[in-house]
Amino acid sequence: MTNEWSSLKAECEGCRACPLCETRTNVVFGVGDTGAELMFIGEGPGEREDLKGEPFVGRAGMLLDQYLLAVGLSRQTVYIANIVKCRPPKNRDPLPEEQQACIGYLHRQIALIKPKVIMCLGRIAAKVFIDPDFKVTVQHGEWVYRDGIWITGTFHPAALLRNPNQKPDAFADFTAARDKLLERA
Ligand code: URA
Repeated sequence: MTNEWSSLKAECEGCRACPLCETRTNVVFGVGDTGAELMFIGEGPGEREDLKGEPFVGRAGMLLDQYLLAVGLSRQTVYIANIVKCRPPKNRDPLPEEQQACIGYLHRQIALIKPKVIMCLGRIAAKVFIDPDFKVTVQHGEWVYRDGIWITGTFHPAALLRNPNQKPDAFADFTAARDKLLERA
């Protein structure tokens, strides 16, 4: 881990840029390989994540782990982060101003990790990274190439827990993201 990474993490962990800092237990900075070729971006920490300080450790996270395993990956070989790093109260969507206050940390993480591929998990992340009008059911699995990074979006694992009929589509998206790593960009 470079000095730059450690100081970014320390800065983020002391952040008081938006009101979410008042109610957080832990800043959820991210987890995984800081040299990963594939990065996953969710929305924001839930209760379990806030308590543990790690993204996707609740029920949705267990499903994410299963998808990673199914395509030969793991949370140690990818990097996982969120649009906002502190839990929004009652798991509501992060407000635009909270996203705005936090997104700089994620951009700096991306600049240091330099992933080949980013997969957005759900609407909130896909709206930021792909299309402000992103519709998951229509645009999941589509690719854009921006600033040297292939970016795609798929269903949020929490949505898949509610709508298991979308699981085969999500599996195809995960497989395509894994396969993209093998292509020469
Ligand atoms: N949902 C997210 O978007 N991120 C997490 O870390 C957990 C649940």
